[in-house]
Amino acid sequence: FSPALVDTFQRRHDYLRISLTERCNLRCFYCMPEEGIELSPQGKLLTNEEILRLASLFVRSGVTKIRLTGGEPTVRKGVDAIIAGLNTLRPQGLQSIAMTTNGIALPRKLSGLVANGLSHINLSLDTLDPFKFEIMTRRRGHDAVLKSLRSALDNPALVSVKLNVVVIKGLNDAEVVDFVEMTKDAKLSVRFIEFMPFTGNSWDKHKMVPSDELLEHIRTHYQHRVARVSDEVNDTARSWQISGYQGSFGFISSMSDHFCSSCNRLRITADGQIKVCLFDAKEVSLRDIMRQGATDEELLRVIALAVQGKQEKHANMEDIDVVTNRPMILIGDSYVLL
Ligand code: GTP
Ligand code: 5AD
Ligand code: SF4
Repeated sequence: FSPALVDTFQRRHDYLRISLTERCNLRCFYCMPEEGIELSPQGKLLTNEEILRLASLFVRSGVTKIRLTGGEPTVRKGVDAIIAGLNTLRPQGLQSIAMTTNGIALPRKLSGLVANGLSHINLSLDTLDPFKFEIMTRRRGHDAVLKSLRSALDNPALVSVKLNVVVIKGLNDAEVVDFVEMTKDAKLSVRFIEFMPFTGNSWDKHKMVPSDELLEHIRTHYQHRVARVSDEVNDTARSWQISGYQGSFGFISSMSDHFCSSCNRLRITADGQIKVCLFDAKEVSLRDIMRQGATDEELLRVIALAVQGKQEKHANMEDIDVVTNRPMILIGDSYVLL
C-alpha cells in the first residue's frame, strides 16, 4: 500500500471515485442550482487516456475499487472503452469497477457496460410515483429507471445492485416502507440518504429527515422483524433487514452521524481535480500537471500532498461551506444538467 494514499489520521484510501462528465440527462433539484451551472469546455475535461493513466497510478498505490460517477456517467461518449481500460487493471489489484447512475440510459447501455467489466451498480431512484419523479428530477423517465433496475437485478454478472433514495421531508418520506418492500423478493440494497447541503440546492434542515426517524417508522411498521446486518468497515450505510427478505436496506447519515473516521475515499472531478473530501472546497489540478508533462512519480507526489491535507472530518451541517464548494453535479456524486 503506497504511503501516498495514507493521510495524517492513518486513513488508507483504497476507493477512488472518478467523475466522467458534468453533463446529465436529468435535473434533480437537490443536485444543482435551478438556474443551471456553467459547464467546463470540452478541452478542460480529462481525456480517456488521462483517466486511465490516473486510474493505473492509483491502483498501483493501493486502490482496489473505482466508482464512475458524473454528472451522469453513461452520457459520456466512450464510457465502454473507459470500463474496458479499467478492466485491464484487475491483475494489478483492482477488484471492483462500480458506477452510480440514474439509470435513464441503461436499458440501452447496461449489457455493454457489464460486458466490458462493470461489476457493481448503484442506481438512483427517489420515488416510486412517476408524478413525483418528474417533480424531483424535472424530467420524464421513471419507466426507464424501473426497467434498468429489473435488468440490473437479472444480470448475473453484477456482484451488487443498490438503490439510492435521497429522502426529502413531505415529498418522498412516506414511501419508505414501499422501498423496503422492494427488498422482499430481490437481492437489492436500498439506501436512504440524508439530504446534504450544496451550493444552490435549496437545502434546509427542515427538509432533511434524520435516519433515526426513518428507522423508527420502519420498526413500528415491521415490529420485531427488523434486524441489523453487518456492514463493511468503510461502508457509508448502516444496514438492516426484514427477516425472511432477500435484500436489505440501510441509511447513509452524512448529516446526523458522519462516517469521516472510516473514510477511505478520494475523488477526481471530470475536469481533473483531486478532491480529498466531499465537503472540502480545496482541490488540486492533476490535469494541469499531467499536461505540463509530469512524470508518474511527480504526479504521485502531488497526490500525496493533497491526501496529507485531508481534514479529520467535515463541519457540522449548519457550518458546511456551500459557498466555495462546488455544486453536487460538479463533484461527481450525482446528476443533472442545465
Ligand atoms: P458503495 O461503494 O456502494 O458503498 O457506494 P457509495 O455509497 O460510496 O456511493 P454512491 O455513489 O452510491 O453514493 C451514495 C451516497 O453517499 C450519496 O449521497 C453520496 O453523496 C454519499 N457519499 C458518497 N461518498 C461520500 C463521502 O465521501 N462522504 C459523504 N459524507 N457522503 C458520501
Ligand atoms: N444530498 C444527498 N444525496 C445526494 N445525491 C445528490 N445530491 C445529493 C444531496 N444534496 C445523491 C444522488 C446519487 C448519489 C450519488 O448522490 O441521488 O444517488
Ligand atoms: Fe470522508 Fe470528507 Fe466524506 Fe467525511 S465528508 S466521509 S472526511 S470524504
